[in-house]
Formats: sequence, C-alpha cells, structure tokens
Amino acid sequence: MDSFLIKGPNKIKGEVSISGSKNAALPILASTLLFDNPVTIDNLPRVKDIDTMLNLLESLGSTIIFSKNKKKVKIINKKKQKTYASYSYIKTMRGGILVLGPLIAKYHRSIVSLPGGCLIGARPVNYHLSAFKKLGMRYKINKGYIYANSKGKLKGSNIKFSKISVGATENLIIAACLAKGKTTLKNCAIEPEIKDLTNFLKLAGAKIKWIGKRTIQIIGVESLKETEYSVMGDRIETGTFCVAATLAKGNLLIKNFNPKIIQTELNLLKKTGAKIKTFKNKIHIKGPKKIKSISNIVTKEYPNSLATDLQAQFMVLLCLASGRSSITENIFENRFMHVAELRRLGARIIIKGNKAIIEGQTEFKGAELMSSDLRASVALVLAGIVAKGQSRINRIYHLDRGYEKIENKLRKIGVNIKRLS
Ligand code: EPZ
Repeated sequence: MDSFLIKGPNKIKGEVSISGSKNAALPILASTLLFDNPVTIDNLPRVKDIDTMLNLLESLGSTIIFSKNKKKVKIINKKKQKTYASYSYIKTMRGGILVLGPLIAKYHRSIVSLPGGCLIGARPVNYHLSAFKKLGMRYKINKGYIYANSKGKLKGSNIKFSKISVGATENLIIAACLAKGKTTLKNCAIEPEIKDLTNFLKLAGAKIKWIGKRTIQIIGVESLKETEYSVMGDRIETGTFCVAATLAKGNLLIKNFNPKIIQTELNLLKKTGAKIKTFKNKIHIKGPKKIKSISNIVTKEYPNSLATDLQAQFMVLLCLASGRSSITENIFENRFMHVAELRRLGARIIIKGNKAIIEGQTEFKGAELMSSDLRASVALVLAGIVAKGQSRINRIYHLDRGYEKIENKLRKIGVNIKRLS
C-alpha cells in the first residue's frame, strides 16, 4: 500500500492547474447508459473512482475508447446492455448507485448492488428508491442487491425530496430524461456538479428546465443524440489548494477554475486573512502571516455554507489560527475521522456531537498517520505540509480515489513530498 512522506514545514509558491471534477464526471458517465449513440466525455480526472465507473460501464457492455492522455473517452453502447451492476464495483465507489437511474429508464429492469456502509456515515439510498417508486419502478432488496423493474417506460411524476440529496437528485434527473411525460423534482440539490450534469444532458437533447431555485422540470424524450462534452473543473480540489496556500504562507495561482463557484469558501478564507484576487478562470491567493480564527462555520448544502468535502481541510487551517474556531458538520454523521490523526500531530480539537471546537496556535509536529476517507486523507497531507519534521501518511489509496497526481502538483509548488510504493 502506498504512502506519502512529507518533510516540513514547506512554503507554497507557483501555479497549479485544476483537473476535471470527479463528482461531476461520475453522474455524467453513468448517464451515458441512456444513449444509443456514441458519447465523448473530455476533461476526466485520472483518479481511481473514474476508473471504477468506467470499468462498471464496461461490465455492462459499453465499449470505452481512451484518448492518448486518458482524459477523454468515447463511449459506445451495445444495442442491449447488461443490467446487472456488481457489488465488486459499487463497494469501492458509492457513486455506482447512479447506474440504477439510467438502467431502469432504458431497459425497465436492473439489478444493482446496494452500496453498503461508509466511514463518513451510513449513507442509505432510501431517497433514490422512494423517488423511483413514484416514477413507477418496483423493487425488492435481496442479498445486498436492488432488484428493480418497471412496466415499460417510467412515468413522469411530481416528486418532492424529503431531504436534499446530491445523488438522489442526479439519479432522478438521469432517469426522468427517458420517462414518459413530465417529471417535476422539488427540493433538489443544486451543487455545481448537478448543473454540469444537466448542461451535458441538455446538449444531448434532454428537455430539462430549472423552474425554481430547487425545482427542475424534465420532459422525457425518446432518445439522446451523439454528444461531446467537457467536464467542469473540480471545486473540491480547487478549495483544497486554496486552503494549502492559505496555511503555508503561499503565493499561488490556481488555473482552470471559475472562482464564482467557490465564492463561499473564498469568503471564509478571506476572513482568515488570505489575500485573494479572482479572474475569469483563475484564483490568485496569498496566505497571511497570521491566520485569524472563525467561529460557527457550518457545512450544509450548496451554495451558502462550507462544502462538507472541504470541512477537514478547513479544520487543519483553523488549527493554526490565532484563536478558537468551530465547525459544525451537518451533512454526514461521522465526518470527523481526521481529528484523531490531527491530534497525533499536536492539534487540540474537542468534538461535541457534530461540532468541532478547534483551539488555534497549534505547532504541528510530523508523525506517522493513517488515512481514512478521501477528504480526511488530504487534510493530513495539508497538516504534513506545515508540520515540523517528517510525516508519513499511510493508506493513501483513499486519496488516489479523488485527487489526480496530487504529489506531483504539490512538488511543483514547493512541497517536499514523496510517494513510497
Ligand atoms: C455526494 O454524495 C458526493 N459524492 C460526496 O462527495 C459529497 O460529500 C456529498 O454529495 C454531499 O455534498 C459524489 O458526488 C459522488 P447526498 P451523495 O446524497 O450523493 C443522506 C467526496 O468526498 N442520504 O447528498 O452520496 C446521506 O447519508 C464525496 O467526494 C440519505 O439519508 O450525498 C447524507 O447524510 C464523499 N438517504 C446526506 O443525505 C439517501 O437516499 C447527503 O447525502 C441519500 C442521502
């Protein structure tokens, strides 16, 4: 199992280019199952989760043709694809549940593995299933699989999600594209990755209209046309590099990302003292000499609160602030796995329920650490960048699921980091 060796403290300087978004690419790739015609998807990040999704599509019968740099794929589906999505793919990547929507919409039946548990929370798929039921899908769960079918086409319906869910919104949007008649989805997630999915589907001929802030209307079509689409940049990778620059007295130009998308996080970083200039597709960020604390940060759905996928990274930054800060995690019930590891580097963080109280002025000292989930792992890397001495971060396969060549990108901007295989 690979690990990272980081010698710190490091200062960050230079330029970094943002890769395509994992969480936008996953639903877009799943939705290609709707197509009879070939589809080309560009700007894919070269990360493990994307490989898993492409392998899953292949297992269903799709032919995947890669470009030389493997960031672009042409996907050609068989006339009749398989409809069985095996646990072997979905156990490592919960996003695999997103094939249920297109399979049931196109083939009116599917057997899809339940994703199972996850370190950051129970993460059930009940909102997906109850919404599909309203479109006419029947299902039963047996031996860890969802056995689903419908009497012919799904039928458009009015659905109000009882809670905002990114995955359920995506799955339903995808399925409704081929349903009969009109589907209205209320209380939808409006993360930028969902807008990217609808932009892609609209380009392919889907009839999708946002008719309210969280309401979307979809009129089913017979089929989607041959399309080429380039996935948006990764907002969590962008946010991670912004935090890195802020905590490591950085001077960093971040390229290939529209700053408007992470305005909330940039405003928080400004509050900590970062100097930020934004341009059309670039962010210039300079870290302060003294980092200011912030209390009462909350994670919530997009757009007005800190993204849960950036909570761990912000916590590392706030460990270095001049005073006490706090972050409340509202999306996942167990997303403080990084805290115990950060304490091993010297952090003083108290957890009360879903709130973390972070004492500032920590002087991180390098240590051997264990990665848990994807974002917790990158938080340890951030701490290692500023820690005195050597940190070894084990089990970085978590990190490889969602960050493209992060050690190369960090090395280019001045971080002493090495991958040990
Ligand atoms: C997406 O997960 C992302 N994954 C996550 O990114 C991200 O943290 C999350 O949205 C929130 O922004 C992908 O896009 C592939 P949800 P998703 O459905 O869709 C509960 C990362 O690090 N819920 O919005 O699974 C759920 O347990 C990852 O890149 C139900 O109870 O998130 C959670 O508490 C991790 N029943 C909350 O809702 C359901 O049927 C929000 O989950 C669905 C969700």
